[in-house]
Amino acid sequence: MRRCLELARQAEGRTAPNPMVGCVIVSDAGETLAEGFHRAAGQDHAEVDALRKLPDRRAPGATMVVNLEPCNHHGRTPPCTDAVLRSGVRRVIVGMVDPNPIVAGMGLDRLRAAGVEVVLGVEEAACRALNAPYLLALSERRPLVTVKAAVSLDGRVADAFGRSQWITGEAARLEGHRLRDRHDAVMVGSGTLFADDPSLNTRIEGGRDALPVIVDTQLRVTPEARVMRAGRRPVVLCAQDAPDRALPADVVRVPRAEGGVDLGAGLRALAARGVHSVLVEGGAGLNRALLSAGLVDRLCLFVAPKVLAGGLGFVGGAPIPLAEAYRLRHVDARPVGEDLLIVLERA
Ligand SMILES: NC(=O)c1ccc[n+]([C@@H]2O[C@H](COP(=O)([O-])OP(=O)(O)OC[C@H]3O[C@@H](n4cnc5c(N)ncnc54)[C@H](OP(=O)(O)O)[C@@H]3O)[C@@H](O)[C@H]2O)c1
Repeated sequence: MRRCLELARQAEGRTAPNPMVGCVIVSDAGETLAEGFHRAAGQDHAEVDALRKLPDRRAPGATMVVNLEPCNHHGRTPPCTDAVLRSGVRRVIVGMVDPNPIVAGMGLDRLRAAGVEVVLGVEEAACRALNAPYLLALSERRPLVTVKAAVSLDGRVADAFGRSQWITGEAARLEGHRLRDRHDAVMVGSGTLFADDPSLNTRIEGGRDALPVIVDTQLRVTPEARVMRAGRRPVVLCAQDAPDRALPADVVRVPRAEGGVDLGAGLRALAARGVHSVLVEGGAGLNRALLSAGLVDRLCLFVAPKVLAGGLGFVGGAPIPLAEAYRLRHVDARPVGEDLLIVLERA
């Protein structure tokens, strides 16, 4: 199952609206006969990708391991249960049930009814963690939100003189591009858009661009902004009553809320477009609004060994008393070049 998760993760950021799935087929002697994973929506599911590598797609008497329940419905591809049953595997080991209402246990029922032994719940916590964005999109109809910021040791994203470029080093910037590569969308507020004119594309070998999303209440962004020309056609979230503007972008109008647009509604609109994970790259105003709306699931903080004693913090707005502080919990910390990456999750 751990190998399945490794295989599945290779497609991180490429499978939405589908989950990430890996599959390993093993003989009774414990020998790996075939491996596969789901590469992108519309392409083979993991089970079929693995079975394809076997003569006649058959593995009589073998065991199939897969991190998510095989589907039993016709989508863009035929039901995986058909292929599993045709293959002659004797046993299927599954990490977790697929809560998608069009699957939800029916795949496992079909296998059991056909006499296949089903073992459910192996490494279930790790399987759930891998597909956290998919599971959240199903349960709350919004994407998983990760806020990323590059800060000084005293939590500043820009010095008091307005210079915010290159707080962290080369390795951290590379890691930032890896994060873009593995998220469905990358989001910034209008403040960051006008201050930095970012292109928001992914500049690493083999990388792919996330969908750029700009939060711009009044639709002030112009076609000249770099993000409009850098790669994928962006989405601009603006207020329902924002003026019309011709842009090479998809304009999504959502209700207003304190501070600008209703971010919950904006995120739900993104989920409806198949976006399951959003990397928020600032700035301080957008980060604060997402925190106060309870919409931050993860925080990736790249901390540079530099002290600025002033400047813009990564969370803006009025100071918060200690008793009311937003609480997160540390899940990981590791050096990235000369900087430190701290990963936190909702407490
Ligand atoms: N070092 C880093 O990691 C990093 C990363 C990003 C940014 N930065 C720096 O951060 C600074 C920009 O921060 P910022 O706070 O000015 O801008 P921001 O957070 O990027 O954008 C804030 C703007 O977003 C719009 N908005 C729309 N709906 C909102 C809502 N519900 N809540 C809050 N804002 C909403 C508002 O403007 P409208 O209503 O007019 O649209 C608001 O003024 C720049 O100096 C940039 O260089 C640093």
